[in-house]
Amino acid sequence: MKPNKHIRIGMVGYRLMGRAHSHAYRDFPFYFDTDTLPVLQAVTGRDEGRVQTAAHKMGWASYETDWRRLIERDDIDLIDIVTPNDTHAEIAIAAAEAGKHVFCEKPLALSLDQAKRMLEAVDKAGVTHMICHNYRFSPAVQWAKKLIEEGRLGKIYHIRATFLQDWLMDPHFPLIWRLQKGVSGGGTLGDLGAHIIDLARFLVGEFREVAGMMETFIKKRPLGSMTDHLKGRIESDQWGEVTVDDATAFLARFENGALGTFESSRFSKGNRAGNRFEINGEKGSLRWDMENLNNLQVYLADDEPGLQGFRTINCTEEEHPYAGSYWPAGHILGYEHTFINLVSELMKGISLGTSPRPNFEDGVKNQAVLESVEESVNTRSWVGISDRRSLNRQ
Ligand SMILES: NC(=O)c1ccc[n+]([C@@H]2O[C@H](COP(=O)([O-])OP(=O)(O)OC[C@H]3O[C@@H](n4cnc5c(N)ncnc54)[C@H](O)[C@@H]3O)[C@@H](O)[C@H]2O)c1
Repeated sequence: MKPNKHIRIGMVGYRLMGRAHSHAYRDFPFYFDTDTLPVLQAVTGRDEGRVQTAAHKMGWASYETDWRRLIERDDIDLIDIVTPNDTHAEIAIAAAEAGKHVFCEKPLALSLDQAKRMLEAVDKAGVTHMICHNYRFSPAVQWAKKLIEEGRLGKIYHIRATFLQDWLMDPHFPLIWRLQKGVSGGGTLGDLGAHIIDLARFLVGEFREVAGMMETFIKKRPLGSMTDHLKGRIESDQWGEVTVDDATAFLARFENGALGTFESSRFSKGNRAGNRFEINGEKGSLRWDMENLNNLQVYLADDEPGLQGFRTINCTEEEHPYAGSYWPAGHILGYEHTFINLVSELMKGISLGTSPRPNFEDGVKNQAVLESVEESVNTRSWVGISDRRSLNRQ
């Protein structure tokens, strides 16, 4: 296929997710046959020296120091938002109003109300929109979806999902933006919980009600900021209050009758990126672990007696979604490929004038779960999701 369309990207932010997205745009045309080429047109950051260095290192053609200027430029087709969560709504709405397609990091917003306004803005503008729940795009997770849709597991009874980390356990780790509610909107629930909620919505279905608990183990920390690779730098001898959760656990019922347990924590020693799920159905079970992301464990009850057991499928065969675009079977993929696969859908969506899943509607539904878990923690009760989730779209 000969590329005949160019999507000129303007990215706001350039650190952890900025690197992941930049890499995905660069590598996507290398592996995928496409008529739509992403162009790394301009990156934005507030510090001129740093953004210039980032632009050079990651291959961006130009840079800006104010995202508003980026949106004014008529040589930008897509705005990619990889900044802290308090900036998502303002940037996304302004981008949509300027007629740009929008790709936004998760969680979509600080609140459900903001998320709904973002969805309204992209709907009104008729632009393509997606949210970056990249784990859906691991070939093994896609294969899990296919097996469930084919009925290989039968009726789904359970999902048990965790996203566990341990990089914040040092009490002297600084009070970075992720620990300030006004900037992040939430702690592990919004950061890690949002991903496992998305996986559950993708694989099991819509949530009906939730009941949760939360804890902040370290209540005060020295002031400072994030550096690279989830590390922090203390910048003051002053200490400030941590206003988000360090850990959240919640129970859920799904509209289809399944039960779920969910746990997100940054205080789970030894777990670096413990994004895992197990799904049990009447005819089988599935297990996946991001730290071993090529493999899907599958148990099928119709296997011969005596040979039943979990088998490990290395999802690198041509049959497995996206895997055939890369290497021969058994030549494994990594974290970065989930972003490349997502970008392949984003480019297809822009080319066809659609908004592939997960898009801002998924972002709103995810935010409805996040907000309901918080309400349930505050009221110590079960909270229903359906009213919050309802949308009035044209
Ligand atoms: N999909 C995933 O797996 C995943 C993983 C990590 C983070 N995230 C999400 O990505 C987003 C960014 O997180 P990160 O880890 O890359 O953060 P980070 O702290 O590493 O980088 C944030 C970037 O935003 C810039 N920035 C901050 N405020 C800005 C403003 N007002 N204008 C312009 N630039 C500004 C910073 O200079 C920096 O470049 C968040 O929404 C986060 O939840 C998603």
